[in-house]
Parts: sequence; structure tokens; C-alpha cells
Amino acid sequence: MLLAIDQGTTGTTCLVFDAEGELIGRGYREFGQHFPRPGWVEHDAAEIWDVTRAVADEALEDAGLEEAELDGIGITNQRETVCVWDPSTGEPLHRALVWQDRRTAARCDELRQAGYEQLVRERTGLVLDPYFSGTKIEWLLRNVDGLAQRAREGRAMFGTIDAWLVFKLTGELVTDASNASRTLLYDIRRGAWDDDLCELFGVPSRALPSVRPSAGEVGRTAAGVPVAGIAGDQQAALFGQACLEPGMGKNTYGTGSFVLLNAGSRRPPAPAGLLTTIAWQIAGNVTYALEASIFVTGAGVQWLRDGLGIIEAAGETELLAASLDANDGVYFVPALTGLGSPYWDPYARGTIVGLTRGTGRAHLARAALEAMAYQTVDAVRAMEAVGAHPLRELRADGGATANRWLMQFQADLLGVPVLVPEVAETTALGAAYLAGVGVGMWTLDTVQRGWRERARFEPRMEDAERAALLEGWGRAVERARGWEQ
Ligand code: G3P
Repeated sequence: MLLAIDQGTTGTTCLVFDAEGELIGRGYREFGQHFPRPGWVEHDAAEIWDVTRAVADEALEDAGLEEAELDGIGITNQRETVCVWDPSTGEPLHRALVWQDRRTAARCDELRQAGYEQLVRERTGLVLDPYFSGTKIEWLLRNVDGLAQRAREGRAMFGTIDAWLVFKLTGELVTDASNASRTLLYDIRRGAWDDDLCELFGVPSRALPSVRPSAGEVGRTAAGVPVAGIAGDQQAALFGQACLEPGMGKNTYGTGSFVLLNAGSRRPPAPAGLLTTIAWQIAGNVTYALEASIFVTGAGVQWLRDGLGIIEAAGETELLAASLDANDGVYFVPALTGLGSPYWDPYARGTIVGLTRGTGRAHLARAALEAMAYQTVDAVRAMEAVGAHPLRELRADGGATANRWLMQFQADLLGVPVLVPEVAETTALGAAYLAGVGVGMWTLDTVQRGWRERARFEPRMEDAERAALLEGWGRAVERARGWEQ
């Protein structure tokens, strides 16, 4: 029996799987979001721990199990988000700075102008963007009283959410290679924290957790259960989608969307607009991935619900979108936290174009769904442009895969089938698989055999219509870019 903890941007999901990989218990809760200034996003790490503990108990109760009956725990998490805590008391020293937080945009410009982009790309496979942890840690060190000294003295630890949860669960100060690869501090060729980058961002290496493989025991809970699988949520989803061969890819539709393509065991160069990242490390074997990070997709629909109040539930968008024959030229570029791949523009802002007096909420709902699909096409085309294998099919997961209109539109725009697996919570499943492999209960074969298709959407749109839609989207994106500068 395995417990998978999926600590996401808006909530924590916990799932319990039996030895055959069947789902036998679940729990979910949301937690608070803090927006102290425009562009800033923070989480309370203590609350994340409390919520996660409570949801894990709920899932165990749902499965009718005691914690001690578990064979292992797998953890997967929102990536890049930085926690800082005192390792002797276990107390957070500041709110966590969330991956969506743009407060270090100007600092990234400065570093780019000073010529550091190339170094960062070569060592980490990432780009200089406030999205990643490095400049966030630097901001904390420069702005929280006494923190730099604490860090030098070993009285402050910086870690992504996985490291925070593993510490709370086991007392160990560790992270895994997939999470480390998102920090801007980790050399993905050598598989080690990079001294030059740590110096650049002023991070003492003793303030960082040690980096472990993604599968294998890293510590035990008070009840004696091994934590045996760790991966960033997008990498876990790639694993859960059984994209184990080079060229296989997935898209997870969550707060944002992240398209990852398995790139095999040799590190590919980081191509323009895209990231190279560590998918997972099992024993000494590292698997790399090409990634396109799209910051806002589901969060755009959430904004229609919570910001504008024009829908009551995300599911309504399906009928609203289908109620129109066409988008009537209305496009919504949901650059609510800047734009990620392939544009990397932290100054882009959310933009709606094409409004007329006939425009209604159905248009906005449709535009929010269409934007998810357009951004995915941008990501896939950027991958193909750099010579990645042309995608033969897209494996899709995450909440929005329940939206059949969106899935069909996605297949139409991409021109390849979109496949949705039986277990929709592929991210948590991936964490469970890693833990299963980590405790020796499962092998990669189990993962391969466990993937089952629930729905398949075949493309059926004419080329001319597809081209016209993408052309309109391209023009809308141009209007959103560089708005704040
Ligand atoms: O890189 C950010 C990503 O890990 C967030 O995922 O599912 O919490 O929106 P999610």
C-alpha cells in the first residue's frame, strides 16, 4: 500500500493505492493564497504542512488504513516555490515565494544584461526568469533581516516544497534531482549544486538540502514508513503517463500547463524558448526532458469564476464554448503572471481582444479554453522546431481533461490524437509509482502496463480553419507582450 502526496499550487491531493495500483482512498483540500502586492504570490509553509497532514489522514481513513500499514510514501509538488525554515525548530522563517511570483523580474533583466544567461542555460537548462527559485532565494537573503547570516551559520534551510514536506515527515534535509533541476542552482550535467551559481545568487551550499535520486528511501516517518519517491509534479505526471521512451510527451492541464517530452538519457541542448530539465533519476540513471512551461491555463478559467464572476463552476465553460459556432474573433491571452514558454516575458499582461457589442460571457469562456489549446500548440511547435521527434499523440491529464470540448479543440489544433488515461490524477499516480519502484514493490514494467486509455480525441479540423485561428492567436499574443515595461 502506497500513499501519494501531491502538493499543488492551490491544494493538496492525497491518494492511497493498493499493491495492484488500484486507487483505494483519497483526500483533497485547498489552502490560502497571499498576494501582498501586484505580481507577488506567497504561501504559508506551515499551513501547507498542516493541510497536507490532514489530507493524508483523510485519504488513509478513506482507504481504511493506519499509517503504519503503508509500504511507502511518494511526494510530488508544485515546483520552484521556495520555503525557508530553521532546521532546529522546524519553523518557517518567511512565507514561501511561489513559482508564479514575479518580484525578481528586474533582477533577472540585470543578470541578463550582465551576460549571465549563457552560463545559466549551459549549467541548468533553464532561462533567467523570476519563475525559478534562484532569484527568489536571493531576494529572501537580501530582504529578510538576519537571514543571510543565519544561512551562513547553518540556521536556515532553503528548499522546494518536497524538501519541506520530507523534512516535516522524516527530519531529513533532502530533495530530489528533478526538483533541484528547477532551482537555477543545480548543474544538470554533473548532477551537483553549482558553486558558481550558488555564489552568483549568494546562497551558501550548507543552506541547501542534499540531492537524492527520485526513487529510493530518503528517510522514515515517526510511524516507520519510508518516504521512497520524490519528483516535481510535472515530471511525476510524465512518469505517471508512462512516457518512459524518448519522444513520448504529455500535457498536464492544471493552474498552468506543462508540456514535457522524454528526451532520453543524454542531455539535449536547451533550445530557444524551451527548457531542458531532469525528468527523474533512478539509481544513477538520469532521464532528461524537454519542457515548455505555460503559466496560466486553468487559472484563466478560475479568474472568470473568481475575478469576473461570470461563471459559477469551471465545468460550465464546456457548454458555453459549445453554444457558439465560432470564436467570432475574440481571444484571451491569459498572461496573468507574465508569459512562459516560448516567449519568457514577465512583463506581458492578460489581454482580451476582439470585443464587439455582441460579445458575451460565452465568448470569454470559449476564449479561455481556446487559450489553453493555443498555448499548447505554441509549446509543441517550439519543440518540433528544434528537431524533437514530431509528436504522434499527446497524452493529456489534469482537471481540464474532463472538458470534452477542450480536448476535441486541442486535437483539432494540434492535428494529432489527444489521449486521456483512466487515472486522471496522473501526477499523484507518478509519485506512487516512484515510491513503488523505490521500495522495490514495482518495476518500470508495472508503470508501462498500468497505463490505460479512457478517451481518445481524433483531429478533424480543416487546415485553413486551423491556420486562421492560430494567426488570430499570434496577433493577440503580440498585443499582450511587454505591456508593463
Ligand atoms: O512549475 C510549476 C508547477 O509545478 C505547478 O504545477 O499543478 O501546482 O499548477 P501546479
